[in-house]
Amino acid sequence: MLGFGETMNPMKIECEKKRAQLLDGARVAEEIKREVAEDIERLKREHGAVPCLVVVRVGEDPASRVYVRNKVRTSEALGLRSEHRALKAETTTEELLNLIEGLNARDDVDGILVQLPLPKEIDERRVIEAIDPAKDVDGFHPINVGRLSLGQETLAPCTPVGIIELLERNAITISGANSCIVGRSQIVGRPVAQLLLQRDATVIICHSRTRDLSSITRQADVLIAAIGRPGFIKGEHIKPGATVIDVGINRVTDEAQARELFGEEAEKRIEIIRARGYTLVGDVHPAEADQVAGRRTPVPGGVGLLTVAALMRNTLKAARWRRGL
Ligand code: GUN
Repeated sequence: MLGFGETMNPMKIECEKKRAQLLDGARVAEEIKREVAEDIERLKREHGAVPCLVVVRVGEDPASRVYVRNKVRTSEALGLRSEHRALKAETTTEELLNLIEGLNARDDVDGILVQLPLPKEIDERRVIEAIDPAKDVDGFHPINVGRLSLGQETLAPCTPVGIIELLERNAITISGANSCIVGRSQIVGRPVAQLLLQRDATVIICHSRTRDLSSITRQADVLIAAIGRPGFIKGEHIKPGATVIDVGINRVTDEAQARELFGEEAEKRIEIIRARGYTLVGDVHPAEADQVAGRRTPVPGGVGLLTVAALMRNTLKAARWRRGL
């Protein structure tokens, strides 16, 4: 506070400029998981049913190994049954389709998740379309995609569901907001656009062919970056005070790049690179976003944690629907 007769020094204003508030994905994820664990307990008590999730991984993609391990561990922690099927990289499309057929037929299996990306020799579309839509906890089957686009109740993709939860549980206005999504993937960009539209946001989807990207993204009250390019969204792309949701998970191994990206946090990140070989950065340039955004999700600690929490909720939802509850 200024004392009597004091005037504000412009340099001081610059120094005291507020940094973006970090949106805590862990807190929201824990909240959702607690609710899901309670509902699972109730389902057991009242109906004697324990939902079961089967996670299928093909090949040895290191990131997929980590994601799948998290999914299986979280299932168990919440009281779900889970099975992990790790298949060799040489698995054929036909072998994977046979496995899925078997899982579709098993009455004790409620959710089937095939971790993507699959090795390029496998026909991903045929695999996704083979999953029983009622067990498609990823929400990738065309039937579920169609239901989502019609605004019907369905199993919606987990990362988009997690993003909506993060916004709503932080009381960030969606209805009437200008929202902009950078990235048009089936996993994030397109479905999150549908969920935002259902909640009365104005929605723009940008992508690699968008002209004058920053003039569009700068109109967004809610900006979602899902492009898979480290630190791509810079200060110039962000409307002052906007909420920036960073969906990217990229590995940075280069210390100079870390220094450029992380500002005050750079030394800590460089230590992490030295210890582990890499640190994680999203699709948003954290140091620049901090100067412009009102709120942003950190990486790690943001959206990634919510994907798993939303998967748990989808598995519970599938289990209840399959039992007519
Ligand atoms: N790979 C990256 N994200 C996802 C996801 O949400 N589901 C699946 N199955 N694979 C992924």
